[in-house]
Amino acid sequence: MDKIKSSEITPERVYLSRRDFLKSMGIVSASAAVLAACGPAANATADATLNPTEAPAMESEAPAATAQATTDELGDPLNSFEDITNYNNFYEFTTDKQRVAKLATDFRTSPWEVQVGGLVNNPKTYSIDDLRKFEAEERIYRLRCVEAWSMVIPWFGFPLHKLLAEVEPKSEAKYVRFETLYDKEQFPGQKTDIWYQWPYVEGLRMDEAMNDLTLMATGLYGKDLLPQNGAPIRLVVPWKYGFKSIKSIVKIDLVAEMPTSLWMAAAPQEYGFYANVNPNVDHPRWSQATERRIGELGRRASIMFNGYEEEVAHLYDGMDLSANY
Ligand code: MTE
Repeated sequence: MDKIKSSEITPERVYLSRRDFLKSMGIVSASAAVLAACGPAANATADATLNPTEAPAMESEAPAATAQATTDELGDPLNSFEDITNYNNFYEFTTDKQRVAKLATDFRTSPWEVQVGGLVNNPKTYSIDDLRKFEAEERIYRLRCVEAWSMVIPWFGFPLHKLLAEVEPKSEAKYVRFETLYDKEQFPGQKTDIWYQWPYVEGLRMDEAMNDLTLMATGLYGKDLLPQNGAPIRLVVPWKYGFKSIKSIVKIDLVAEMPTSLWMAAAPQEYGFYANVNPNVDHPRWSQATERRIGELGRRASIMFNGYEEEVAHLYDGMDLSANY
């Protein structure tokens, strides 16, 4: 797995066009080192796939994408805007990571509403403009996909606990359930991929939802989210495998029982509710000990809770983390 095949080295032509693209965004210096060899377009097949059954990279229109930082707190460089917006998991469009961006081009994110209800004293329907009134900040997080690839992403958003405080959860509320838009006309995968129980659903325990790391993201690199990344609003839970970070949310319910996520329903023996990044517990079909950081050669060690152990380990005191959650 560690040996890079010659087919995984980005051809010079692709590399040079990436450089031009990045130059046009003014971020080539931060990213040049990591782009020098292989990119997502070059070695996508090296990764596992979360699909229990089982194109060319797109260049988005060049926005003035900027971040306030160039690395995460561990010193690792941010992935480029191009990587983050052209290598995506969004099964409602397609299971092909490099085709999501193209298929998502015309996705309508306005008007958009998010209904927040269930076991709350103050249920509320938010327009996207209402949600943009929450004070947003940049958060540099590692995203570690369960398929064993990862990126460093400069998100823009606000902590979920700020939204929950407004709707006032009742004491019976023990979990938060999130739902993605269900629209077969806009999401071809919802029409054709009958293996999955649409819409995409995810959940968090109340204390996980209230943790300050848990982010409602509306942008990245200082720009509004593009559809492929879950526009207009998505969840980001950086210490959990990426599938917990549900995209294009339209409904948030406070509930008493643990929600069944799309992945729990599709393959319960492979995907648990907690899904905390844990290099010591392998996926039934592949190791979780290492990961491929998009844009880097070789593999790097994965870290417990994706490096956020200090902030979140206490949430799981007394739980057996060696079981496959
Ligand atoms: N949300 C929805 N609605 N549909 C999806 O297919 N894929 C998940 C998650 N959120 C997914 C989703 C997975 S597996 C990952 S790794 C991340 O989104 C990828 O986010 P990114 O494409 O912005 O990197």
